[in-house]
Amino acid sequence: MRQLISNYGLFLREFRRTFHTTGAILPSSPRLGRALARFVPDATSNGGGSDSQRRILEAGPGTGAVTNQIVARLGERDRLELVELNDRFVAHLRERFTREPALAAVASRMEIHHAPIQDLPGTAQYDVIVSGLPLNNFSVELAESILTSYKRLLKSGGTLSFFEYVAVRPMRTIASGQKERRRLRGLTELLGSLCRQHEFARQMVLTNVPPAWVHHLRFE
Ligand SMILES: C[S@@+](CC[C@H](N)C(=O)[O-])C[C@H]1O[C@@H](n2cnc3c(N)ncnc32)[C@H](O)[C@@H]1O
Repeated sequence: MRQLISNYGLFLREFRRTFHTTGAILPSSPRLGRALARFVPDATSNGGGSDSQRRILEAGPGTGAVTNQIVARLGERDRLELVELNDRFVAHLRERFTREPALAAVASRMEIHHAPIQDLPGTAQYDVIVSGLPLNNFSVELAESILTSYKRLLKSGGTLSFFEYVAVRPMRTIASGQKERRRLRGLTELLGSLCRQHEFARQMVLTNVPPAWVHHLRFE
C-alpha cells in the first residue's frame, strides 16, 4: 500500500511538472498493464520454454505500473530493458528494482536506459516492445520519429503494443484552436494509417482512468 501511494504521489507530481511527456494523471491500472503485456507470453506458454531468450523493451515505464505486469510474465532467460526520459522516474525505478522482491528477482536481467527512445541505438534488437508513451501529446514529427524507432528496434515478427486514451483526440479537437486541430488531425492520420496496415489485435480497457485502447502491431 505504501508503495502504491508513493508511485501515485510521484506520478501526480511529474504530471504537474512535465505534463507534456508524462501525459497522464495516474499510472496505468493493472488491467491496462496486463493488456499491454499480452504479447510478452509468460514462461509457461513460451514456445521455446525457458530455453529461448527473448528481449523485451518497455518505453516510458514511469513508476513501473506496466513493468510489474511484464516482469510477472518474463521467462527465466528473458531480458527486460526499460527506456525512460524522466530522471525522477529512472531513480524511482532503480530503487524499486533493488527493494521489491518480485523486481529484485529479475534485476540481473534488467537494464534501464535513461534516454529518449529515439536515441536508443541498434536494429532488430527486441522481440516485444511495450510502449507507454503519450503519443497524442506530441507533434506529428516526434510521434513519427518514435514510431520509426520502434520499427527499427523490433526484430522481424516482433510485436509492438501501445495504448491511447479513448476519444482523446476528438475531445481535444472540440476545445482547441486551428494549430492544435491540425496537429491532432495529423496524429489521427498517422496512427490510423499505421493501425490499418499493421494492427492484428486491439482491446478496449474500461477499468483505467481514463479508459484506453490497446493496439498490437506487427510490421512483418
Ligand atoms: C503516460 S506515462 C506512462 C507511464 C507508465 N507506463 C504507466 O502506464 O503508468 C508516459 C511515460 O513516458 C515517458 N516518456 C515520454 N517521452 C519519452 C521518450 N521520448 N522516451 C522515453 N520515455 C518517454 C514519460 O517520462 C512517462 O514516464
